[in-house]
Amino acid sequence: MALRVGPAAEGVDAVAYVAGKKEGLDWLREKAGKAARLVVELGDFRGEAEETVLVYREEVPHRLVLAGAGGDEWYGDAERLRVGVAAAVRAARRIKNVKSLGVVVDPRLVAAAAGAGGGETWAWEQALVAADMANYVYSLRSKTEKPHTLDEIVVEAPSEEPLRTAKAIAEAVRIARDIANAPPERMNPERLEEKAREIAKSYGLDITVLHRGELESLGMGGILGVGKGSDVEPRLIILRYSGGPRRVAVVGKAVTFDSGGLDLKPPQYMLEMKFDKSGGAAAIGAVVAAAALRLPFEVVALVPAVENLPSGRSYKPLDVLDMYNGLTVEVGNTDAEGRLILADALAYAAEKYKPELMIDMATLTGAAVVALGNHAAALMGNNEDLVKAVEEAAWRAGEPAWRLPMWPVYAKQLESKTADTNNIGGRWAGAITAAKFLEKFVGDTPWAHLDIAGVAWVQENGPKKPYYEHGATGWGVRTFVELLRARAKA
Ligand code: BES
Ligand code: MN
Ligand code: ZN
Repeated sequence: MALRVGPAAEGVDAVAYVAGKKEGLDWLREKAGKAARLVVELGDFRGEAEETVLVYREEVPHRLVLAGAGGDEWYGDAERLRVGVAAAVRAARRIKNVKSLGVVVDPRLVAAAAGAGGGETWAWEQALVAADMANYVYSLRSKTEKPHTLDEIVVEAPSEEPLRTAKAIAEAVRIARDIANAPPERMNPERLEEKAREIAKSYGLDITVLHRGELESLGMGGILGVGKGSDVEPRLIILRYSGGPRRVAVVGKAVTFDSGGLDLKPPQYMLEMKFDKSGGAAAIGAVVAAAALRLPFEVVALVPAVENLPSGRSYKPLDVLDMYNGLTVEVGNTDAEGRLILADALAYAAEKYKPELMIDMATLTGAAVVALGNHAAALMGNNEDLVKAVEEAAWRAGEPAWRLPMWPVYAKQLESKTADTNNIGGRWAGAITAAKFLEKFVGDTPWAHLDIAGVAWVQENGPKKPYYEHGATGWGVRTFVELLRARAKA
């Protein structure tokens, strides 16, 4: 990763000017040179969101990119800035010879973004993070050419101030995306533990990993039950950063591969299920970001890691599991595994760490995708203030979240004749009944739940933001950062 702040037109292979329809294009016509003026006057660039034009000109750098930040977009002004900058990076990446790109942004666009979030420095930081996210690629190609990325991106911000935090956030997002993108065998629970240990070492985090014996003594029937079908044992990975006396917990679902178990998924659906570790990846990214930013909190990330596979040892439909908090759960469907591993991790986090707040991130239900598609995470919780704070943080971060209700009636769908609860609630309101299930395990700890099933990855032909490549998005890391920063001030 090579993000820099400095003059954008010096010693680079291409320079980009980012401007939006909302602010108008006068700035562009004045500042971006003759060629840009011509393009604008011809009406060939209008500043629409994600619009890009590449122009070759006599002066240096010869390659000029115009990138659009749009008008009154639904996602707000900070996101317009991110989208514009990211579109510029994507346009530059299309040309193999371009290794370095300078980025200049209409100051009015930056001012608008600053108003939407946390001021000018924050807006520049967000632009830098978006630039790096647009320059991300996950590739295991060894003999064939990898998708082209830039060696250097120079953003013409007024000071170096946003650079350090931008790099910290961008790196944490990269870590989350790398984990989620990794093929299932290369990031099974054992490998994820190894990865977490490496990360702990380089960021100075404490790490504890609970293995089968310890999970058994603690009575974590959810994690153990789901993990039974695999030859690779399940575990609970706990990373801790101590930056202050106030403690928060972030729990992330890491089903390193979700075949569905004995309730096997059809091939078409199974083909996406390496991404079922995205919540765990985001939780790891979140604690890394907190450490790298030295946020004044103690952050405990709890990541239950399992493979959900069918075998002669798998847990079965109609099994009853004894959970960490003492509840018994009848298994209505082995494919509703995420909530079972989260339940143990949430109950353990609440009891052992007594955090002032707890948030979980999970690719939990297809129902969340049906409801909101790929544009927003489903947000629920047991505490109005916290849910509001998470909602605001998510939008500020460019990771929109939309609330679903948590009325008590939904819990009725989970009733079981045999056990305290079933793990499924039938066809309707699946995202909500999943959250109502989790709620049984959080006690009275303020808790918010982000169902990121629709937003954690981008399908090959899915709707893309210019800073998301096909594959993992790292969704959740930036929301967590914004949440903690807001709370640090409050
Ligand atoms: N990991 C899936 C959720 C999922 C499905 C994410 C599709 C993204 C796209 C989860 O473990 C699952 O299988 N959920 C089931 C629950 C059902 C059996 C109650 C679902 O949503 O279909
Ligand atoms: Mn499943
Ligand atoms: Zn799953």
